[in-house]
Amino acid sequence: MPKITIQDFLKKKVEKKKITMLTAYDYPFAQVVDEAGLDAVLVGDSLGMVVQGLENTLPVTMDEMIYHTRMVSRATKNAMVIGDMPFMSYQAGIEDAVRNAGRFLKEAGASTVKLEGGAEVAEHIRVMTRSEIPVMAHIGLTPQSIHRMGGYKVQGKTEAAANRLVEEAHIAEDAGAFSLLLEAIPIQLAKRITEELTIPTIGIGAGPYCDGQVLVLHDVLGLFERFIPKFVKRYADLKEEALKAILTYKAEVEQGIFPSEEQGFK
Ligand code: KIV
Repeated sequence: MPKITIQDFLKKKVEKKKITMLTAYDYPFAQVVDEAGLDAVLVGDSLGMVVQGLENTLPVTMDEMIYHTRMVSRATKNAMVIGDMPFMSYQAGIEDAVRNAGRFLKEAGASTVKLEGGAEVAEHIRVMTRSEIPVMAHIGLTPQSIHRMGGYKVQGKTEAAANRLVEEAHIAEDAGAFSLLLEAIPIQLAKRITEELTIPTIGIGAGPYCDGQVLVLHDVLGLFERFIPKFVKRYADLKEEALKAILTYKAEVEQGIFPSEEQGFK
C-alpha cells in the first residue's frame, strides 16, 4: 500500500472520513501503529516528557528528533510520518525553520513537519511550503509556550480569545499549511474552525467535530502516569502488564525456574 499523502488528508475531509493519528517515537511502537492502519504517525516533541522523563518539551533538540524520526520512518510502511519541530528550531528565524524542517525530510524519512503557532509563524509556513516541505500548523494549547501561558491550560475560552484562534486558523491555512492541529480548545470553537477551513483539522482535547484525532501513544497505552489530561482516554494498561511480566521473570530466576532445560542447548 502506498504511503498516506497530504492529498489523502484533504480527500478524507471532503469525504467526511475521520483522519486517525497517534504519536510514536521508536521502531516497535511505530510498527504497531502502522500495522493498525492509522493515517499518520506524529513523532512529537512530547517524547521529551514520555520517553526522556523531562518536565516539559523545551529541552528536546533537533538531533534527538531526527534520531527518533528515523526509527519511526524505518518502521512505517503506510502511515504519513510527521516530524515535530522542537523548541528553538524555528522561532529564531525563517532560515532556521526551513533548514531544520528540511532535515526531517532529507535525513529522517518524514514527509511532513508540524510546528506550533499561527500568525507568528505564517511566513515560516509560507517559505517552508514553497520549499516543498508540507507543514501542519498547531494552535490552541501550544506546549512550547508553557511559560507564556502559565501552564497547560485550555485556550480560547473567552469570545475574544476564540475569535483570535479562528483568525489564526485562517492565517495558517492562507500561508499554505496542509492541516491544522487544534489542542485543548472548547468543542464548539473547534467545530467552527473545522467548518470554516478547507484544510483538515486534527484535534487533541478539541472535541468530536474535528476532521481527525491525535493522542500521545504513551497516554493511550497507560505508559505515562505523571499526569493524565482530561481529554485522554486510556485504552490499555501496559505499565501494569509489563510490571507483571518482569516480576514473574524475577521470581522465576530467583527460584531457579528460568531457564529450564527447554531454553538450553544440547
Ligand atoms: O508533541 C506532541 O506529541 C504533540 C501532540 C500533543 C499533538 O504535539
